[in-house]
Amino acid sequence: MQHLKGKFIVLDGPEGCGKSTQLRLLADYLRSNHVDVTTVRDPGATRIGEQVRAILLNPENTEMGMRCEMMLYMSARAQMMKEVIAPALAQGKCVLCDRFVSSTLAYQLGGDGLTFEEIHATADIAISHRWPDLTIILDIAPEKSFARLNRAKDRLEQRPLAYHQQVYANYLAQAKADPAKYRLVNADADLHEVHRAIVQCLSLSSPGFTSL
Ligand code: TMP
Repeated sequence: MQHLKGKFIVLDGPEGCGKSTQLRLLADYLRSNHVDVTTVRDPGATRIGEQVRAILLNPENTEMGMRCEMMLYMSARAQMMKEVIAPALAQGKCVLCDRFVSSTLAYQLGGDGLTFEEIHATADIAISHRWPDLTIILDIAPEKSFARLNRAKDRLEQRPLAYHQQVYANYLAQAKADPAKYRLVNADADLHEVHRAIVQCLSLSSPGFTSL
């Protein structure tokens, strides 16, 4: 797993897909294989980013427009890139990120007329052109994943099922459009099975791995 030094890996997917648990399992696995790992969650990971996160997820902020929402996610991300991700990568660490631009391209796409090109161009500025080496999408339909949530819903989780079905479709479309940089992993399976599939995506023997 030494080939993952200095690599930037994103785990993403719909609400309740299990990515935070899988990120922890993956970080433990890589550390036990002597890879120096930095984990971050987006939005968050910095003092400023966590404040922006609180604004974004506050159910009282009902008047927030999609363009404002998109720019706030990008602001938190810009700070995280400068303060945490870029320095960690420069030190040869493997960065594991819970969500990233792939989330904005799933959740904010189409809102207030936002296009893929607009989000992509804004992201490129926010992240100083440092795109992830690989984005792993945990594939589970929202009808199933929402059943796993057992806490109060935040502002985005409160949106109707039809919205989350579109988010899911946006994830699948991204993965299909860029097979070199995306992998889909079936998340409707046992925790350990999902973990093994994620590790397989990162192994040198994985098909198409040379593009990482
Ligand atoms: P989390 O539940 O994985 O911590 O993510 C916080 C919420 O923010 C979740 O509902 C997904 C949403 N989100 C977006 O809408 N756009 C984004 O770019 C990101 C990173 C998250």
